[in-house]
Amino acid sequence: MIIRILTLFPQMFDATLGSSILQRAREKGLLDIACINIRDYASNKHKKVDDYPYGGGAGMVMTPQPIFDSHQAVVEELKLEKKPRTIYLSPKGRVFNQEIAQELAQEKELVFLCGHYEGIDQRVIDELVTDEISIGDYVLTGGEIPAMVVIDALSRMIPGVLSQEESYEEESFYSGVLEYPHYTRPAEFRGLKVPDVLMSGNHKNIDTWRRKKSLEMTMERRPDLMEGLQPSKADLKLLAE
Ligand code: ADE
Repeated sequence: MIIRILTLFPQMFDATLGSSILQRAREKGLLDIACINIRDYASNKHKKVDDYPYGGGAGMVMTPQPIFDSHQAVVEELKLEKKPRTIYLSPKGRVFNQEIAQELAQEKELVFLCGHYEGIDQRVIDELVTDEISIGDYVLTGGEIPAMVVIDALSRMIPGVLSQEESYEEESFYSGVLEYPHYTRPAEFRGLKVPDVLMSGNHKNIDTWRRKKSLEMTMERRPDLMEGLQPSKADLKLLAE
């Protein structure tokens, strides 16, 4: 997948894109990610990218010209024949979840647009943006961290990015319930023991224990998720125990 990020703060992405699984995915050629500094496309002498809002009010608004031109530079760089899927991160957007991540992971190219200050000129949204996404009901100082969140979540769903052992199919939200608890060595730590069943070698019992824990935790912490779930007869039996 090819990802281009339009931002005023490309350095913010260095740590996330250059570490761990995302870095490995880039090295494997599964992800081609680059940041484009919107300011480089400002046509005015002072490289100014924001201005006062028409109609008055607090804060500054990002002007359309450098955003349109940096977006066009991506279209030309990638030789795209139609407008790329362009995601604007904003608290006004659709609230991000695993399903949206999965859907975005199918695309060949994605452009992320990160706003700052009070936001961006509405004409950019009307003309260039195909998806407006929020990462939750709180306001951040800019769209960079939300873009990293979305890119991280969708990248790990691209085939080959995670190894077999790291696969996401069993995880919370993919399976519809919260993931069961994990334990590793030592078997006893400061008097705290790993549940016997996990060391029993009996895989049927282990699976049952994990499913029960998942269901219990989901009931307790996220009853809203249970509403969308069709528990099997076996699940109902586990919950009743
Ligand atoms: N920009 C500022 N706050 C945001 C949020 N919650 N989600 C996405 N983009 C944002």
